[in-house]
This record gives sequence, C-alpha cells and structure tokens, in this order.
Amino acid sequence: MKHKTPLLDQLESGPWPSFVSDLKQEAEVRAKNVNGVNYQIPVDVCEDLLGVLELSFKHKRTHWKHGGIVGVFGYGGGVIGRYCDQPEMFPGVAHFHTMRISQPAGKFYTSKYLKQLCDLWQFRGSGITNMHGSTGDIIWIGTTTPQIEEIFFELTHTLNQDLGGSGSNLRTPSDCIGAARCEYACYDTQNLCHTLTNDYQDELHRPAFPYKFKFKFDGCPNCCVASIARSDMSFIGTWKDDIRLDQKEVKAYVGGEYAPNAGAHSGRDWGKFDIQKEVVALCPTGCMRYEGGKLEINNRECTRCMHCINVMPRALRIGNDRGLSILVGAKAPILDGAQMGSLLVPFVKAEEPYGEIKEVIEAVWDWWMEEGKNRERLGELIKRQGFQKLLEVTNIKPMPQHVKEPRSNPYIFWKEDEVEGGFTGDINEFRKYHQR
Ligand code: HEM
Ligand code: HEM
Ligand code: SF4
Ligand code: SF4
Repeated sequence: MKHKTPLLDQLESGPWPSFVSDLKQEAEVRAKNVNGVNYQIPVDVCEDLLGVLELSFKHKRTHWKHGGIVGVFGYGGGVIGRYCDQPEMFPGVAHFHTMRISQPAGKFYTSKYLKQLCDLWQFRGSGITNMHGSTGDIIWIGTTTPQIEEIFFELTHTLNQDLGGSGSNLRTPSDCIGAARCEYACYDTQNLCHTLTNDYQDELHRPAFPYKFKFKFDGCPNCCVASIARSDMSFIGTWKDDIRLDQKEVKAYVGGEYAPNAGAHSGRDWGKFDIQKEVVALCPTGCMRYEGGKLEINNRECTRCMHCINVMPRALRIGNDRGLSILVGAKAPILDGAQMGSLLVPFVKAEEPYGEIKEVIEAVWDWWMEEGKNRERLGELIKRQGFQKLLEVTNIKPMPQHVKEPRSNPYIFWKEDEVEGGFTGDINEFRKYHQR
C-alpha cells in the first residue's frame, strides 16, 4: 500500500466485515488491473482514501474541504462535490465527488444489472460504493468532475438509470419491501414509491423548494423503512376492518406447535408461550380476550399496533379493507428540534393512479413552497403557522385522531367570523355602559 495505515489496520481484526480490508482489496484489484481497464481517475484512489482517512484518525478531524458544487446539466442536484484539503499528499482524492443513483423500490436487483453498474463505476470512478445511502440511493463514492457527465450519459443511455436527489428538492423516495416479501403489507409500497418517484421527477431533479423534502413508504405500522422518523411525508399502511383471526392456528400457538414471533426470540429460553402474558396483556388498548381456548378482539378499540399479528403471524392477519395513513413533518434536530411525523390523513385508499394521495402531497407543497422560510422544513412550518393551517390548506376537517391530547393552555385563536359581532368594537359604545 502507498501509505502506512497503522490505526486503520487495527480495524481489520474482529468478526464483522472490515471496510478497511475491503478498501485494500479494491486498491489491489485496481493496481493489478487484470481486465485492462482504462481507468479514468487515479488508479491509486483507494490507497489515497485510506491515506487521508488514516490522517483523520490521527488528527481526529476531517480532511475534506467545505462544500463543493458540481453536477450535470439539466439537473440541480444528484452529485455531492468534495475536495481533499491535502491534495498534494493525496492527489488520488483531490476530487472525490459522490454520485447518488436512484435505487429500485425495495432494492431488489439482478446480478446482471449490478455488474453493469460496477463496470461503469470501476472505469470512471473509485470503485467504492455505499449500498445504500440512508435515504435509499445507491451511492457512488469518489470521482472527478470531468467524469460526471460521462457517467451520467452512460447511466441514462445504456443502463436506463437516473440520478437520485440532493439539495432543496424532493429527495429519492424509498420503501419497505412490502407486498413483494411481506404478508403484513397493506398496500403495494413498491408501486406507490416507484409511481410517485416517476411522477415527481421534476421536483426531484431541479430544486424548487424552501428546503429538502422526503417521502417514505411503509407497508404497515412496523415501519421497516422508518418513514415516521425519516421522511417529511410518511405513508404507513393500515386497515379499517377486522383483524382476520384463525382460531385453529391460535390453538397451534398455544399448544406450542408454532414458535411465537416466528421464532425471533429462539436465542434464549423465555419459557413456554403464554398467550395471556405475551399477547392479551400487552395489547395497548386491552381490547383482546382469551377465554375457553378462544381469542377475541374488539376491533373497534384496536389501534392496529401490529403487536398481536407480529407475535402470531400464522393465526392473525391484517384486515381486508386496506389503505394507508399519511403523517407529516418528521425531521432531525436542526434547527428547532427533532420531530416525528404527525398524523394528517388517518386513512386513504392506496389505489392507482393514487389521485387522492397526490392531492394531499400537492396541497402541502403549494402551502410550504409559498410560506416556508428559507431552509425551513415542513415540520417547522407546521410549528410556526400551526397544524390548523395545515388542515386548512389540505382541506382536511379537524378530528380527534389529529391529536394525542387536546391543548391545555387557553391561548385559543378564533376566526373573526366565528365570533358574534366580530373584532371591531367601538370604545364609545363600550363607554356608554362602563364609565372610566
Ligand atoms: C374586565 C377586565 C379584565 C378582565 C376580564 C381580564 C381578564 C384576564 C384574563 C382572562 C387573563 C388571562 C388569564 C390567563 O392567563 O389565564 C388576564 C391576564 C392578565 N391581565 Fe387581565 N383582565 C382585565 C383587566 C385587566 C387590567 C385592567 C389589567 C392591568 C391594568 C390587566 C392585567 C393583566 C395581566 C398583566 C395579565 C397577565 C398577562 C400574562 O399572563 O401575560 N387585566 N386578564
Ligand atoms: C391595579 C390593580 C390590579 C391589578 C394590576 C391586578 C392584576 C391582576 C392580575 C395580573 C391577576 C392575575 C390574572 C391571571 O390569572 O393571569 C390578578 C388576579 C386577581 N386579582 Fe387583581 N389586580 C388588581 C387589583 C385587584 C383588586 C383591587 C382586587 C380585589 C379587590 C383584585 C383581585 C384579584 C383576584 C381575586 C385575582 C385572582 C387571583 C387568582 O386567580 O388566584 N385585583 N390581578
Ligand atoms: S413495514 Fe410492515 S409491510 Fe413493510 S416490510 Fe415491514 S412489516 Fe412488512
Ligand atoms: S393490533 Fe395491537 S391494539 Fe390491535 S388487537 Fe392487536 S395488540 Fe391490540
């Protein structure tokens, strides 16, 4: 290797797959170049990355310069520019831009497709990736500015593949695997994710918003893509009718024929499955009963938390009248504190072409794009102008499900037309009855 990396070398031990070993392996592959690739960026890019990382370990600080604005013509985002602050020491990573590649919904791949991506990235980039970025994109880590358009041309013309989002725009939507592999899926998360990604390509590629905006799609309240915490607009599947219940299968759980939670806790002895203790008593609303070998659910009181279904997936199933809830406003702490999504639409059908869902999205955008301050997330606009304003712009009637609890302070705003006589009183009229 080009640089000594004593600190990083320590991370090659231990059982977890070592990113250091992998980077060294890629460095070696590039150096040997058995396929005779005509590398378009420095051959030793991986070695210089290890070098600058070692320096950062030593200094306990980053060695990337501030910012970086690069991209492709026609788009306002998708590439995150980055330059090393020690370019003489590490010329291989003097330019080290990241490209975001839009991933397929659910992240299902064929090896043929991945091989094509790898060939392109070996040729015009570092060969280093992140599978995947937290938002969902395939991340290509490290290339030079002149390669960006070349890569983009090849991606679009040969691989029929677009970039992902970055900047003050709609970021790359992502979803749980949903109906492809999960019997809890209340709607086709992949189809909705894919459809909206295509429908809102313009909003994704050309920043037009006050700040970033993310969509995520969870098939049920288990939230495997964490939409409630990581997307400004979170779509979470649910059902409206009764949980489907198979008493014969319930008996099989009670009799020990099936492991609870599909065997998720088999690594430890938790004793024999106790339906009363592990299901009925843990139901958050206490709406279940197990008597005389029969399980009963009072579905009116069920909040669809998924617990009982998660414990006995072979006996209990989601209802047949399915749709999703829309929650809004999740964000990380900066500026005014972390937020999770707040319930806006308790239930909407998720059927193509998703007209009702798009109406909500576009009403929210119309409001936020006009009223949002510079770099103000939707969640912060909701705090600043009020949830009531959000309900007005989306034309949604306030309902008890919109709150966890009613307000306790009495600083209540009334609209003038709700108040008899309005807000324009005459002091002289008042004085007629009340002397100074
Ligand atoms: C008919 C006459 C008045 C009525 C009905 C009235 C009523 C109220 C009410 C309902 C509040 C709010 C209580 C709360 O925070 O829960 C309040 C607060 C207050 N009122 Fe009055 N008030 C009257 C006259 C006055 C006058 C003449 C003064 C002062 C000269 C005054 C000074 C204040 C102050 C300083 C507060 C507290 C404000 C705050 O907490 O920030 N009020 N009043
Ligand atoms: C300049 C004269 C006065 C001022 C500025 C004044 C101001 C206030 C304020 C700010 C409050 C608290 C309101 C709130 O709950 O937010 C209050 C409460 C009260 N004031 Fe006065 N006040 C005055 C005179 C009087 C007088 C003369 C009386 C009775 C003779 C009186 C009886 C009360 C009572 C009973 C309360 C309610 C206390 C409570 O809720 O625990 N105040 N006053
Ligand atoms: S969120 Fe629900 S539907 Fe989606 S993968 Fe997880 S458990 Fe299945
Ligand atoms: S889904 Fe949750 S709230 Fe509903 S019956 Fe099961 S445990 Fe109770």
